[in-house]
Amino acid sequence: MLAVVPPPVTVRVPSKINLHLSVGDLRDDGYHDLTTVFHALSLSDEVTVAVAEEPGIEVFGEGEDAVPTDAKNLAWQAVEALAKHADRADPKVRVVLRKGIPVAGGMAGGSADAAATLVALTALWKLELGRDELAEIAAKLGSDVPFALYGGTALGTGRGEQLVPVLSRHTFHWVLAFDHRGLSTPGVFRELDRLRENGSPPRVGSHAPVVEALASGDPRQLALLLGNDLQAAAVSLRPGLRRTLRAGVNAGALAGTVSGSGPTCAFLCEDAEAALEVAAELAGAGVCRTVRVAHGPVPGARFVGGDDVN
Ligand code: C5P
Repeated sequence: MLAVVPPPVTVRVPSKINLHLSVGDLRDDGYHDLTTVFHALSLSDEVTVAVAEEPGIEVFGEGEDAVPTDAKNLAWQAVEALAKHADRADPKVRVVLRKGIPVAGGMAGGSADAAATLVALTALWKLELGRDELAEIAAKLGSDVPFALYGGTALGTGRGEQLVPVLSRHTFHWVLAFDHRGLSTPGVFRELDRLRENGSPPRVGSHAPVVEALASGDPRQLALLLGNDLQAAAVSLRPGLRRTLRAGVNAGALAGTVSGSGPTCAFLCEDAEAALEVAAELAGAGVCRTVRVAHGPVPGARFVGGDDVN
């Protein structure tokens, strides 16, 4: 009898920026305690999983040459983690990543791919797993993976993996400036530790005003409150980012911030039209590799062309 091969499953997954990122001290396990406000953006990746005799990963799109296609890829680690959870030895699947999110850009692209892979494989293998159970597997893969499952806007604590949704009434419009090369996340955290040993780089205050600004939906109020403790470290490693941040504001953005560990810079704009104008001007300023517009918040990992089964 012929076995029925299930059709491939495709999931779209958002990128993230951190509207607020407060980094605590280095913990014994090598991580830092964080308090962060994650915000999911429409700039996204698409991940397709399919049953295949030859397991593996293929990558297309933004930064494809810089993405590993072996077990170093977090999406493949997601395959292995879910296979283990479901007691499936030797998973015969192919994962195709279509990248829109910059690689090593501080927008959690690798984490997004891992989250999308978990959601897609759950459907391909018809597993009975809800999003909260997937989030437990996701947290073991990386600090930003659970947020990519849920999307929206959320307060993250712990390593960033403990999430509480934050009310955000408004769609905010952003311009993103991609740099020529990525930055290593552990390297940026190490640089922050070094800067803190030798001085006192700026620290963001409480996240509470950011949460209030999100509830009010006023981009001008939110713009005053964007803050990221990792920015000083990213700028220290990549001094050109200072010029990029200035250029975005000169182009008419309300405010700019380094996204996560960088080097992508995110600029908040008054509305969609303003974002297009800022993007055009920034693209001509010669301070970055590429410019994109995006809006947020958007939902987390979702099936493309079908209903969400989770
Ligand atoms: O969790 P993830 O694998 O994405 O983290 C990558 C690296 O970033 C960690 O190995 C650590 O060096 C740094 N990190 C940290 N504190 C966090 C999250 C990440 O120091 N809360």
